[in-house]
Amino acid sequence: MTTNGRESQQEKLAIQAGLLDLTQDALIIRDLEDRIEVWNRGAERLYGWGAAEALGQNIQDLLHDSLEPGFEGDLSDNGEWNGELRQTTKDGKTVFVRSRMKLVRDAAGYPRSVLIANTDITEQKTIQSQLLRVQRMETFGRLFSGIAHDLNNELSPMLLSMRMLEHKQPDAESRRWFETLRVSAQRAGRLITQLLSFIKGIDEERILIRPGDLIEETAEILRSTFPKSIEIKTALANDLWPIVGNATHLQQVLINVCVNARDAMPADGVLTIEAENVTGEPISTCTDDGNHLLIKITDTGAGIPLEIIDKIFDAFFTTKNGDITGTGLGLFTVSRILANHKGSIKVSSKVGQGTQFQIYIPVADSAASLLAVRTAHAQNHHS
Ligand SMILES: Nc1ncnc2c1ncn2[C@@H]1O[C@H](COP(=O)(O)OP(=O)(O)OP(=O)(O)O)[C@@H](O)[C@H]1O
Ligand SMILES: [Mg+2]
Repeated sequence: MTTNGRESQQEKLAIQAGLLDLTQDALIIRDLEDRIEVWNRGAERLYGWGAAEALGQNIQDLLHDSLEPGFEGDLSDNGEWNGELRQTTKDGKTVFVRSRMKLVRDAAGYPRSVLIANTDITEQKTIQSQLLRVQRMETFGRLFSGIAHDLNNELSPMLLSMRMLEHKQPDAESRRWFETLRVSAQRAGRLITQLLSFIKGIDEERILIRPGDLIEETAEILRSTFPKSIEIKTALANDLWPIVGNATHLQQVLINVCVNARDAMPADGVLTIEAENVTGEPISTCTDDGNHLLIKITDTGAGIPLEIIDKIFDAFFTTKNGDITGTGLGLFTVSRILANHKGSIKVSSKVGQGTQFQIYIPVADSAASLLAVRTAHAQNHHS
């Protein structure tokens, strides 16, 4: 090196500053009173706060770190801390970071500041928990298809015997009792079949779907699983256009939205599922040909306060921390699935009156596929 000491020192600083901004990580230095002293580009990108806004601020106030009490003790005992944190960005979004902190001491050995390097792992975390959820579903599916088969085997002779006994009863009252028994058993059988077909469909295949069938089938599942205090209505236009998609995933969309509606109506209420064809409505995230299926899901529940309505589709956003607990992934999954289908979802709500979700899905565009469904439909209904 031919440069003198001073120059190389400055070069070093410049290189370090450049490095600070080059990394994707948020690099922050704070003093022992939590005041921010250094805030790099990565931090600006991750949290949305510019350096000018962040410098001098209290880091806890700015990011709402999910730090546990006692953490400061750990840091000063060990001189460093590694862990995962949940934080909040400038526009109120939740982010998860892997955080590494290091205590910096002055020449006399006294702690003077804390170096922080945070890596954004939000995406990774959401994918992980989605995977976990799918894995749980698959395990459940395997377990369930095993016992469902046995259950059906048990039910068939029961049903047969009931029918025989029903006919043998001399008096009308006993016959009515047997009829009630038989009808319930038949319902149980249908439920098992429905659950089975629901679970079997956990795959990526895309098929031509008649929305009316999908909605009615889902409503039937809801009617047999939701409390009786919730009335479930469907109002479907005739001749709904078919859509192309993954039936299991789309059913998951309907179920997630309806389960939220159920949670919003703990006492009682009405859940309405409507569907119609819409033409030419400009929907930014959908395909531009403008032909969509519109599904409206309306509840008469608690409603969503204005302050949080922009956040409900975020991963891990939940208000269910009391008797009912939520993961905050329901609507996130919904928006992911709809994005996969080039669809979109909107919400409108009034506190104390209820909520409506509007789901748009582009319809199958090929005339041939339309014809295929029509023909299948005509054959099924002999019309
Ligand atoms: N129909 C609704 N009425 C009132 N609030 C709703 C409704 N749908 C959603 N929300 C609000 O949106 C939040 C996020 O919903 P989301 O389905 O993503 O998560 P969750 O229901 O809390 O948990 P999870 O679905 O993962 O069990 C809910 O916690 C709730 O506050
Ligand atoms: Mg939910």
